[in-house]
Amino acid sequence: MKNIILIGFMGVGKGSVAREVIKHSDCVAVDTDDLIESMENRTIKKIFAEDGEEYFRDLEKKLSKWLGSSVKNTLISTGGGFYKQKNLKEIGTVVLLNSPFDKILKRINSHPNAVKKLKKRPLLSDLKKAKELYDERLPEYLALADIVIEVTDKSALECAKELLKKVKKHD
Ligand code: S3P
Repeated sequence: MKNIILIGFMGVGKGSVAREVIKHSDCVAVDTDDLIESMENRTIKKIFAEDGEEYFRDLEKKLSKWLGSSVKNTLISTGGGFYKQKNLKEIGTVVLLNSPFDKILKRINSHPNAVKKLKKRPLLSDLKKAKELYDERLPEYLALADIVIEVTDKSALECAKELLKKVKKHD
């Protein structure tokens, strides 16, 4: 199996879908934000606050090279900005989880840990700017995706099943 790279905007549900995919396949999953946090032994929020976004983007770049050269047969869930990596398509099949901005916000806000979810994402602290970022990224996400899963009003399990079916057909 080729790697599967899950991309999509913050809060769209990449982590939840990845967890369902690993439950229903023999796939192992990693998450780029988790890998960066363990490389640095501090949270994404702290990395942004102490060293800034550019430093974080350099870590994503370093990680993308390692993923491309060393990781196989893996579901790779990514932070919302990771899609900018030049070698993205070489890492694996790119799957976009897609949903309108207002539905993404609704999804985050309906979560029991909504405040925590918003706080841990520095780029969601200003919703006007986050919407602009969403509008800027959407066409880029769509252009890169080999497979698009519309996630609105679907459970993580439904999305995971759709993903596995579409990936099988694609690869
Ligand atoms: C970011 C998304 C975050 C995290 C960082 C930057 C982005 O990941 O990588 O805060 O640029 O969209 P999630 O998409 O998992 O929230």
